[in-house]
Amino acid sequence: MDRIVVRPGPPLAGTVQVGGAKNACLKVMAASLLAPGRYVLDNVPRIIDVETMSDVLVAMGVDVRRSGPHQLTLDVPEELTPEAPYELVERMRASIIVLGPLLASCGVARVALPGGDDFGPRPIDMHLRGLEALGASFEAAHGYIEGRAEQLTGTRILLEFPSVGATENILMAAVRAKGVTVIDNAAREPEIADLAAFLDRMGARVTGAGTSTIHVEGVEELASVDHTLVPDRVEAATFLAAVGLARGEIFIEGARADHMDMLVQKLGEMGMRISPASGGLWAYSRGRLRAVDVATLPYPGIATDYKPLFVALLSVADGVGIVTENLFAGRFRYVDELTRMGADIRTEGNHAVVRGIDRLSGAPVRAPDIRAGAALVVAGLAADGETVVTDPQHVDRGYENLAGKLSSLGADVSRFND
Ligand code: EPU
Repeated sequence: MDRIVVRPGPPLAGTVQVGGAKNACLKVMAASLLAPGRYVLDNVPRIIDVETMSDVLVAMGVDVRRSGPHQLTLDVPEELTPEAPYELVERMRASIIVLGPLLASCGVARVALPGGDDFGPRPIDMHLRGLEALGASFEAAHGYIEGRAEQLTGTRILLEFPSVGATENILMAAVRAKGVTVIDNAAREPEIADLAAFLDRMGARVTGAGTSTIHVEGVEELASVDHTLVPDRVEAATFLAAVGLARGEIFIEGARADHMDMLVQKLGEMGMRISPASGGLWAYSRGRLRAVDVATLPYPGIATDYKPLFVALLSVADGVGIVTENLFAGRFRYVDELTRMGADIRTEGNHAVVRGIDRLSGAPVRAPDIRAGAALVVAGLAADGETVVTDPQHVDRGYENLAGKLSSLGADVSRFND
């Protein structure tokens, strides 16, 4: 049985390198569908979701190869097969992000409808409404959504909620639309700013990405370019949580404090010391952390992806913390696993009340998704005895060698593949 085994160890010490952001990489790969030619992407993490997005692109006729440990070369042909099949979308619902680029470059797109997942329902209504406003039309049949767009035309789109995926799909369609598109109440995540920087270098005219209002002036032609991805703030947050739980002093090379302001502030309130240094982030944790309340919000708020890490930290903090999930209704399922490790957590609707205890107790637990899986691994650092995290392939979807990176900081974490 594949598993990650964690045992208590000394306080963490040393330097760990943060990889490129999964959620920027997947979108930049999809954006390559906007223009034929060769793209060389750097700082690409070696994770399963990147493999899945590579398979999605290969199914469309793109030649994808690893040209270095963290480099991907994409050769996008003139003619694409504009279809994302069910077996790939089912593996990774983020595949829906090819919809906008395909409509913009081929005028048609056939993409399997993503189902719900462990977080609960994952609708794409805002993606579709935004693309419709640009002139696309959609039909759903046999589990697929089929889109057509003779001519995309710029317009003002006011998003009901700053959805990351909807903002990106609309942005990637708008770069090839006729005229100006304004996306209001856009998501502001750093990965969206990275995507926009990539599009700009391809020849697009995008301003305001990273703010709530994005202006896009459509252009007729785009060209392939090379790009280096921004660092993964959620991976960096995972190392911060690790040092919060195991204590110690580490340097997270490549992490960008300016992408994680609210997180750094919250962890500071809990008693951690975190400061930006040249080329990364220095983090120090000594003694027991204090409980705080945490509510997830779209960027620049506390990311929903950080939440399982906070629940793990609060489970051994001094006091009671209330965690409120405002994005994904079902994103508390891993709490039962932490409870098996002795954590005192009660959930009610979208709230969790976490009463800190002195130490967790190692137990066999199952990783339900990428982030919760990583949180269970780092929770094991604050547990007596052995914590065995099964289904680690969920963790591999978003983390490159999490066990190895934590071990390099002195943690007792091993990965076993049977
Ligand atoms: N929503 C709708 N309709 C839509 C789109 C979204 O109702 O058409 C709702 C969702 O159900 C959810 C909220 O809006 O309640 C936010 O969803 P959003 O669209 O912002 O999320 P996403 O684009 O599906 C990305 C990340 C997630 C991250 C969220 C929130 C990628 C591939 N995924 O998802 O990351 O949690 O933004 O920040 O970028 C992960 O990396 O493990 C992960 C799950």
